[in-house]
Amino acid sequence: MDDPKLLIYAALGLAALATARKALYDQKLAAIPVAGSSGFLASYRDALKFILHAPELIQQGYDQYPDGIFRVARLWHWDYIVCGPKLVNDVGGAPEDVLSFSGGVEELTMGRALAENPYHQHTIRTSLTRNLHRCFPDVRDEIVCAFDEVLQLQGSEWKALPVLPTTMAVVARVSNRLFVGLPLCRNKAYLQNNIQYTIDVIRSAGRITLWPGFLRPIVGPFISNKEKSNATALKILGPILEERLAKEKELGPDWPGKPNDFISWLLELAEGEERTAPALALRILSTNMAAIHTSSMAFTHALFDLTVHPEHLLPMREEVERVVKEEGWSKAALNNMVKVDSFLRESQRLNGNGPMTMTRKVVAKDGFRFSNGVVLPYGSFVSVASRPTHYDPSNYENAAVFDGFRFARERAEQKLQEDPTKDIFKRHMVSTGTDHLPFGTGKHACPGRFFAATELKAMLAHLVLNYDVKAEVEGVRPADNTFGPVLMPNSTAQVRIRKRQ
Ligand code: HEM
Repeated sequence: MDDPKLLIYAALGLAALATARKALYDQKLAAIPVAGSSGFLASYRDALKFILHAPELIQQGYDQYPDGIFRVARLWHWDYIVCGPKLVNDVGGAPEDVLSFSGGVEELTMGRALAENPYHQHTIRTSLTRNLHRCFPDVRDEIVCAFDEVLQLQGSEWKALPVLPTTMAVVARVSNRLFVGLPLCRNKAYLQNNIQYTIDVIRSAGRITLWPGFLRPIVGPFISNKEKSNATALKILGPILEERLAKEKELGPDWPGKPNDFISWLLELAEGEERTAPALALRILSTNMAAIHTSSMAFTHALFDLTVHPEHLLPMREEVERVVKEEGWSKAALNNMVKVDSFLRESQRLNGNGPMTMTRKVVAKDGFRFSNGVVLPYGSFVSVASRPTHYDPSNYENAAVFDGFRFARERAEQKLQEDPTKDIFKRHMVSTGTDHLPFGTGKHACPGRFFAATELKAMLAHLVLNYDVKAEVEGVRPADNTFGPVLMPNSTAQVRIRKRQ
């Protein structure tokens, strides 16, 4: 298509098609209320507004329909948003062949091979989680080295550091200590490729959604850098993966000296064409994608919260000091760092995962019927209003106020009452529920959350024990970055840090 006129005609034709499609949806779903305007042209204005003001639009819908369903206009489709425990459970409990998790993310992030056979998720849920106790000394060792090398602090001077990139550098190393082990977990090119892949995917996902669904497979390859990252990952990981495959072939699956890492755990489940270096490299890259960005954002938010609520630092320091004195550093010791756990959970409650989460595509041909009788047709996208749920005063007392030890207090109170009907585990960082959605809830609740919690708690415990931190500008929390439904901590903001005096 060299002729610019042809391009214009093609674009106009596509716009007409998309408009017709949208009009069709308008008629079928007129019964579901809209947050914003339902008018034909005004809904397009709202779709543009969504790009910068999604949190406000979704809050508006939640305030009007706190136990119902509403829809928000996107450029090429409606997003259906559900509120309240019953409907959240409907989404969380629906089987994959009715409400599809991979259908909700596939075109943006996952890719077909991973969506069709997500065996690496099983590896995360089982082997990775089960090995956390055994591998904790490695996690701890990597945290200590990474903080030293990445922060590079001298003497007693305060240093201003950009929080998100610094955290990413640490999280990437610590995560990869379990994924691929030493020395690769410290290889700068390998780590940079993982970090960049995550950033590229998130950025290109944002750009791809600006195009209508049927054009995404065509424009996707031009927008995304995935292939380049895949090739780099394979170049770096290839020799190790080939060696592991060869060793298994020669000596069997339990060869002496086999490393206890994610590569070995993947190989326990990989079958057929998954047992090749390119396929394994892709699984490792995708696991990095699921792990690095999410965990780094959570830690960055927690650090911003700590600097604007500095009264939490000393109680956490005292807790860590006491527990480590009694038990040393271990996964079991982390379980007794209740304040550290509570602080991270509270930070996730107020900042986690933006205005909507748990996005699913209706893939049942007859549509999906909610417990309140509302039916969404085949092909619709549905999500849960996460941020409004976390800020809802009927779910949390003083819901909009950061209260770092609220969950620690609840756990202590429930323990005192010894009330068997009250489940204290509900208030742990890893516990999910219809009122706490940073890790989702139900069938697809994040399988990596046990690892994430171990890593983040060990990082925060190390930080409060060994460093002093303060805000760049006293009392000011850097503003979040928003783009459509994505809400991220400020990616350039700094905090001041020094070795503990
Ligand atoms: C603080 C860190 C993390 C946060 C906030 C987080 C959050 C989430 C959320 C919200 C989901 C989607 C749940 C849903 O739609 O129902 C998810 C899924 C997932 N997460 Fe995490 N995650 C984190 C860390 C990790 C880590 C460290 C790993 C890997 C080791 C991981 C691997 C995955 C995978 C594989 C899925 C897809 C699960 C499925 O399809 O059933 N995540 N995560």
